Amino acid sequence: MCGIIGILGKNEVAPQLVEALRRLEYRGYDSAGIATVDGTTLDRRRAVGKLVNLSDVLVHDPLRGKIGIGHTRWATHGAATTLNAHPHRAGRVAVVHNGIIENFRELREELAADGYAPESQTDTEVVALLAARAMDRGASPRDAAFSTIDRLEGAFALAFLFDGEGDMMIGARKGSPLAVGHGEGEMFLGSDAIALAPFTNRITYLEEGDRVILTREGAEITDASGRRANRSLARIDVGATQIDKGGFRHFMAKEIAEQPAVLADALARYVPGGKLDMPLDFSGVERLTLVACGTAHYACHVAKYWFEQIARLPVEIDIASEFRYRDPVLTDRQWAIFVSQSGETADTLAALRHAAEKVGKTVAVVNVPTSSIAREVDVALPILAGVEVGVASTKAFSCQLLVLLMMALKAAHDRGIMNDAALQAHLDDLRALPGLMNQAMTTADPIRGLADDLAEAQDILFLGRGPIYPLALEGALKLKELSYIHAEGYASGELKHGPIALIDAHVPVIVLAPRDALFDKTVSNMQEVMARHGRVLLISDETGLREAGQDCWRTIRMPEVPSILAPLLYAVPAQLLAYHTAVAKGTDVDQPRNLAKSVTVE
Ligand code: AGP
Repeated sequence: MCGIIGILGKNEVAPQLVEALRRLEYRGYDSAGIATVDGTTLDRRRAVGKLVNLSDVLVHDPLRGKIGIGHTRWATHGAATTLNAHPHRAGRVAVVHNGIIENFRELREELAADGYAPESQTDTEVVALLAARAMDRGASPRDAAFSTIDRLEGAFALAFLFDGEGDMMIGARKGSPLAVGHGEGEMFLGSDAIALAPFTNRITYLEEGDRVILTREGAEITDASGRRANRSLARIDVGATQIDKGGFRHFMAKEIAEQPAVLADALARYVPGGKLDMPLDFSGVERLTLVACGTAHYACHVAKYWFEQIARLPVEIDIASEFRYRDPVLTDRQWAIFVSQSGETADTLAALRHAAEKVGKTVAVVNVPTSSIAREVDVALPILAGVEVGVASTKAFSCQLLVLLMMALKAAHDRGIMNDAALQAHLDDLRALPGLMNQAMTTADPIRGLADDLAEAQDILFLGRGPIYPLALEGALKLKELSYIHAEGYASGELKHGPIALIDAHVPVIVLAPRDALFDKTVSNMQEVMARHGRVLLISDETGLREAGQDCWRTIRMPEVPSILAPLLYAVPAQLLAYHTAVAKGTDVDQPRNLAKSVTVE
């Protein structure tokens, strides 16, 4: 997953390219680079690591030109080195790419046999070499780019820049998102609207297989069959693409704090005037399959409990990267629901395409309504979390949970399991959610106070039961991806079947224990840990701590919450534990090593 940008500007484009790349860094930050054409001369600058390193290079060795392309990289083929950084160049062509060229090895051999030897380890370089070879054989820039694209297999969003072409750029989309921005006498190409927002709010999203020839006068788009295509022009809400920390030290801290407000927005959207407005009718569906990756998968895992317990609707959950390879039995009497913050996760998008023609309905629970997944399902349900920049998903997770919970309530009502009065009572309970989330935020101070101890740990376990078990998995994921400490989440009843061997006085065990029907059983499992000198951090409400917190290493007090809302509320201490432990360890909270926000490669 990388970010690409292209600008045909009225002014020097290097600063604009860098600004756009700053807004794309959430897609990967192993290296960055830009290329421009100044008059007729194509040139480039590249740097390893964060974008600031490229900015430093440009200070000392500036690039001029009013047309250019840029790239921020998450390495797929080849280490994060300058040689492997984009733009890749061969002859008169420079290229930036997001995706994976799956047939790059055979292409590389073919090109080397023709004397076009690569200098990098990347798949992308074959794109530049193919186009350069075509131009050496007399092809025009357009024909060289188009014949190159014809040879590529895999997923790509591409931007081509040509020596001597001061007013022409070519883009192509297959499997990775790409959008055209329309300016006044300027045109833009980018991985998403966030990158283009500083320049324009008029966006055309390219479709699968589209190619585009850009000049400052406009865009000529052709579809997968080579016919001219008229794609709709959308006006995006520029406010929705604002990305600043709002006074917080990190985006993640801001986004954790935003949860009460964005959950209130989602409630206003789906429960206007206190009545549920969910554009789905579950009355005929027999089974659901919930498909996602990472944190979004854990949201699906919680939702399985809700759909089955509240609506008595059978649910399968799948990790997207496994889904289509297990060749699931899919029928038109079931729905497939895809949960994704970015709406561009390649594994989830591939799972959607696998299921689309086989199930009765596809539904997306998604944060970016213009994303590929949102545009390819039958029904897209926005979660209204706002732009989430921190690589670790926080407010999107709680908003995903809320939308999934409201879906479960709708399903229960449609299936006659829940009458009007019971539904209304649950909806009334939901009104308390933003306030309860605010109360949960008060755990930040005690959690900050124990972060230094957690930061010293080598291994940390999270335990939970029932719909809190996926929260244990999510809490472990948050901690791993932010602090790089090994952490595992377990169903607390499962610990005695092996993992308890891990317990000793050096292993913090974080027990998420709302006072629900399983509280006593969770406490019993916790005592099995304490009997083996495990260091237990118990997270519960005041009554729960009074009943079971006496001999714990540490305790964190949560507000009393209705059991149905506990998974949303207990996400907050899990997020805060990961955040403050990462701060204590000094890791890069918003851009943890090896990660990216939108995983648009399989
Ligand atoms: C979340 O903290 C992770 N960064 C990651 O697991 C993420 O949830 C996963 O990649 C799915 O992303 P999506 O929601 O955009 O599809």
